[in-house]
Amino acid sequence: MSDVRSSRIEGLHKMTPEARLQAVAQQANLGNEAIASLSAAAEGQIELADRLVENAITSMAIPVGIATNMIVDGREMVVPMATEESSVVAAVCNSAKRCRPTGGFRTSSSGPVMAAQIQLLGASDPENVRLKVYERMDEIRAICDETDPLLLKFGGGFRDLDIRVLETDEGPMTIVHIIVDTRDAMGANAVNSMAEALAPKLVEWTGARSLLRILTNLADRRVVRARAVWPLDQIGGEQVRDDMLSAYHFADADPYRAATHNKGIMNGVSAVVLATGNDTRAIEAGAHAFAAKDGHYRSMSRWEADADGNLVGILEMPMAVGLIGGATKVHPTAQANLAVLGVKTADELARIIVSVGLAQNFGAMRALATTGIQKGHMALHAQNVALAIGAVGAEIDQVASELKALGKVRQDLAEEILARLRGGK
Ligand code: MEV
Repeated sequence: MSDVRSSRIEGLHKMTPEARLQAVAQQANLGNEAIASLSAAAEGQIELADRLVENAITSMAIPVGIATNMIVDGREMVVPMATEESSVVAAVCNSAKRCRPTGGFRTSSSGPVMAAQIQLLGASDPENVRLKVYERMDEIRAICDETDPLLLKFGGGFRDLDIRVLETDEGPMTIVHIIVDTRDAMGANAVNSMAEALAPKLVEWTGARSLLRILTNLADRRVVRARAVWPLDQIGGEQVRDDMLSAYHFADADPYRAATHNKGIMNGVSAVVLATGNDTRAIEAGAHAFAAKDGHYRSMSRWEADADGNLVGILEMPMAVGLIGGATKVHPTAQANLAVLGVKTADELARIIVSVGLAQNFGAMRALATTGIQKGHMALHAQNVALAIGAVGAEIDQVASELKALGKVRQDLAEEILARLRGGK
């Protein structure tokens, strides 16, 4: 049985955040401790939270750690990463250090090109519809560019059409992709507005009915590639290299392993995406869809040994991030994190993010192919477990170090240690 009295809270959206918190506290029978912690977390943050989302009652802080040792395209940089997971930042620092002798990460990119889809239905001649739309290229360009004059001013705007007839369970549909250069914007607003402006015209020209008008997160025209070479002596020798290659081949062949391997890559990617106020879900959706582009889900990264026996890592993935608009523009921490990175364009940011993803993947594969993942996790994980069982102040380190000494980071053992420490006071 739920503790919430009712999920109906009349007029919640019209209340102040403080009043909302009280109303929610009452409905959910919150104790004073929970109310105090929600209200403490809101301090200094609630005005922004209230502007960003509906029915805001508080804000939730995610730690930002700094990845050191990164060199991307010859530039030294420190990278803010927003993550709650221990070992993620440390893994990037360590992996980036190990490829410094070969110059760090080198990147390339296809440019900031996004697409929106317009679904056209109900025509008995979908191929005819497809061609009719192509014939209107100039008018389509004008409609799209008029929708976003600012984008045009900055050198972006409509670029091309890609139109497919899609066979579905309810028959064929004509799917119109409008291809747009969105410059330093992530581009969702720009391309969605264009698709909505264009759809009635497509209906007029073709006689088909238009239904969905929305960007695709499979941003396969906005692909960023990062590459790095790890010298043999930085990996731990030939056996470790070969075991890392076997780890990669396992991931590339098996979706069960690929999901975890790619999750590790996204540990790095999403942390920088979040730290810069970008849309983690958009990046994740695009990344996983891209990883399945060959018809089965594979590793997002590729690994090889070069002629000198060094390990070469490659990560190629869609990276639709922006510097203007959304939370990136209004969140002061996101702005400050961008200042730490010193990036001037969305493309530069995208290249750094993919490099961090590759570094993360190297770290995870090396750990898995050698000592296993738990050893590296131990120190921070022990602290988390100590915190989770209610240790405070000096108790946290005491419980954590006893757990580490035991070599077993378990909640039941942590509880025993804490009880003993407290009993001894
Ligand atoms: C944990 O968050 C990420 C890893 O599982 C990634 C991997 O298995 O490659 C360590």
